[in-house]
Amino acid sequence: MPRGLNGRTAIVTGAAGGIGHAIAARLAGAGAKVEIWDWSPETFDGAFTPAAIRKLDVSDPAAVAAAFESAVAELGQVDILVNNAGINGPVLPMWELAPETWASVLGVNLTGVFNGCRVAAPHMKARGYGRILNIASMAGKDGVPYISAYSAAKAGVIGFSKAISKELADSGVTVNCIAPAMAETGLQAQMTPEHIAAMKAKIPMGRFLKLPEIADMAAWIVSEECSFTTGFTFDLSGGRSTY
Ligand SMILES: NC(=O)c1ccc[n+]([C@@H]2O[C@H](COP(=O)([O-])OP(=O)(O)OC[C@H]3O[C@@H](n4cnc5c(N)ncnc54)[C@H](O)[C@@H]3O)[C@@H](O)[C@H]2O)c1
Repeated sequence: MPRGLNGRTAIVTGAAGGIGHAIAARLAGAGAKVEIWDWSPETFDGAFTPAAIRKLDVSDPAAVAAAFESAVAELGQVDILVNNAGINGPVLPMWELAPETWASVLGVNLTGVFNGCRVAAPHMKARGYGRILNIASMAGKDGVPYISAYSAAKAGVIGFSKAISKELADSGVTVNCIAPAMAETGLQAQMTPEHIAAMKAKIPMGRFLKLPEIADMAAWIVSEECSFTTGFTFDLSGGRSTY
């Protein structure tokens, strides 16, 4: 267990369920005060006691800025931001994707990350300490057929994180990503059985990612101990990733 989370303050977006919930619970268990930001906070199962639960859409810059201001007012400071909220969108050939669907998948998965970083980075930079973790996907590295908007958004998250990690490199603030392969979460409800089977078949270990595996890695990345890695995309792919 990383030592550096005791007394730290954290925001995890999309933490009412799935991967975000697993990460938030792990950070809380390691001594951090954790806020859940989610557009469906009523689905949170109460497995741990968050510092606050805020209902918002991460693609809305004004809502994200207002929530961050409230978090700073209530917590005193924000040490950790995990941009995890995401949607898959429909599994469709690119030419059947409606422009509004493209915009909403990019809006949540990519602009949502920008919205969080743009308010957190100046605050963390001014304090000389911060950990930003953005949840990308193997789809952003490989490009997965029939989820082109999702693949584009996640590739964007990786490129954006590399860029801003350099802007913040001398400030004590690190920015990293995790690129998971498939885990069994509510996200699968947006996928077809064929797509899920194809994604599992890509994983050399022959199984899905387990939530404690991503919670453990995330807890390390946002700890004080992870101090000399920034702009990096950590792999959680059961051997699928080769670069
Ligand atoms: N499950 C997988 O196989 C997998 C693989 C790679 C990457 N990821 C990424 O991990 C992250 C979490 O996915 P998950 O599998 O836990 O999904 P999930 O659907 O189980 O949980 C997502 C959570 O985010 C919330 N959310 C969605 N859109 C939001 C918005 N606009 N504003 C605020 N909250 C919002 C949902 O209410 C939900 O609580 C996503 O970024 C996803 O792309 C998931």
